[in-house]
Amino acid sequence: MNFKLLLEKKKYRERITKEEFDQLIRGVITKSIPEYQLAALLMAIYFNGLDDDETFYLTEAMLNSGKRLSFDLHPLWDKHSTGGVGDKISLVIAPILAAFDIKVPMISGRGLGHTGGTIDKLESIPGFRSEIPIEQLPHLLDNSGFFIISQSDEIAPADRQLYALRDATQTVDSIPLIVASILSKKLAVNTDGIIIDVKCGGGAFMRSRREAETLASLLKKIGERFNRKVVTLITAMDQPLGRMVGNSLEVIESIEFLKGNYEPDTKELVVKMVQLITDRTDAEIDALIRSGRPLELMKRFIEAQGGNPEVVEDYSLLPQTPHRDEILSPSDGWIAEIDARRVGMMMVEMGGGRRKLGEVVDHRVGFEFLKKVGDRVERGETIALLHHPGQKPDGIDRIIRVTTGPVERRSIFLSPSSSPTSGAT
Ligand code: URA
Repeated sequence: MNFKLLLEKKKYRERITKEEFDQLIRGVITKSIPEYQLAALLMAIYFNGLDDDETFYLTEAMLNSGKRLSFDLHPLWDKHSTGGVGDKISLVIAPILAAFDIKVPMISGRGLGHTGGTIDKLESIPGFRSEIPIEQLPHLLDNSGFFIISQSDEIAPADRQLYALRDATQTVDSIPLIVASILSKKLAVNTDGIIIDVKCGGGAFMRSRREAETLASLLKKIGERFNRKVVTLITAMDQPLGRMVGNSLEVIESIEFLKGNYEPDTKELVVKMVQLITDRTDAEIDALIRSGRPLELMKRFIEAQGGNPEVVEDYSLLPQTPHRDEILSPSDGWIAEIDARRVGMMMVEMGGGRRKLGEVVDHRVGFEFLKKVGDRVERGETIALLHHPGQKPDGIDRIIRVTTGPVERRSIFLSPSSSPTSGAT
C-alpha cells in the first residue's frame, strides 16, 4: 500500500476506506509499516478525527486481526472502564454478576500512564496467572462464572501494538481511537452485552463531560453496528474511587466489598451497573453479597487462575510496603479536592504504575484515603495513609485541598442529558 497517500488523505481530512483500513491493520500486524509512519497517521487522526464509518471500519479491521471467542453459556456480559484511579469495579462486579448467574468473560488491561489496570491488581495475588490458553476458558467460566484474563497476541493483537504507539505519541485520548481500541477487544467475545463505564474528570482520559458524552454515544453507536448491545455510564473521576489506590490495596478493598463492607461511591456504582443488566433491587443485591456467594466465586476464580485463595482471609499474604506514613490535614475544614490525576502520577513515581508497556510494577505501594471530598477534618487529623517503599514521592501535600467552608458530597453519576442523578446513557 502507498502509505504516504494514506497520510496525505488524513492530513487533508479525506475519508479512509474500508479496504485501506484492512491494509493498514495488516501492515501493523506484519510490521511492514514503519512505526514513524504509523505515529504520523495516529497524530493526523488525533487532530482530524474519523467519521462514524471510518471508526467502524477501523474497529472491524482491528477485531479481525485476532481470534473470536465463543461460549455456549448465557447470559454473557462483559464490563469495561475507560480508565481511572482506584477503579477496582471489575474485581467486584464480575463475581456479583456471576452469583446472579450472568457469566462474565473479561479481557482486561494493565495500567498505563496515571491509570490503574485490573490485571496489575490481580497479579499482586501470589501465583495469579492472567495469561490462560483459550481452550481452558470454557472450564473457567463453568467453574466460577467469570474469568479475568489479559489481552494476548490472540485477541485483537493490532490494538496491543497501536496502543503502545499511541501511548508513546500522546494520542491515547482520541475518541475514535479509544472506541476502536475498546470495541475491537470486547467484540471478540460473543457476549450478549457490554457495559462500559466512561470515566470523566481530571483523573480520566475524558476531562470534560462533553467529551465523555461523545465517547459514550460513539461506543454505543459503533457497538450497535456490530449488533452488540452496549450500555454506557458516565461517572466522575475527579477523586479516586473508593478508599484504596494501589494494586494489592485494591484487591483488599474489593474483597472487603464482597464481605459487605462497602465504600459509598463504589457501592453506588456497582448497584447501578448490576441494575442496568438485571432487574434486581438494592436489597436483593445487598442480600446476595451478604450471602457470601460472590466471595466464594471470587475464591474459586483466584484458585482456578493459579492464585492463592487464602488471600481472601489473610491479607498478609499480599505484598505490603515496610513503610506507612500519615498524610495530615493542614487545617480545620472540609476536603475540597483529592486530585486523582496527581495520585495516579505518584503511583507511577513510586513504581505502582508504569510509564510504558512492559515495565514491572510494585504491587505494594499505594494510598488509603480515610477521608473523601465533602468530609469534615480537623487540623492534624489523618486524611490518608501512604504505603511507600522507603522514599516518599515529592508533592504529596499537593494532592489534597482543604477549605474552610462546607463542601457538598457529589454523586459519581454525571449526565446532564438525562437527569443529574442518572448517568446511564
Ligand atoms: N481503554 C482501552 O482499552 N483503550 C483505550 O484506548 C483507552 C482505554
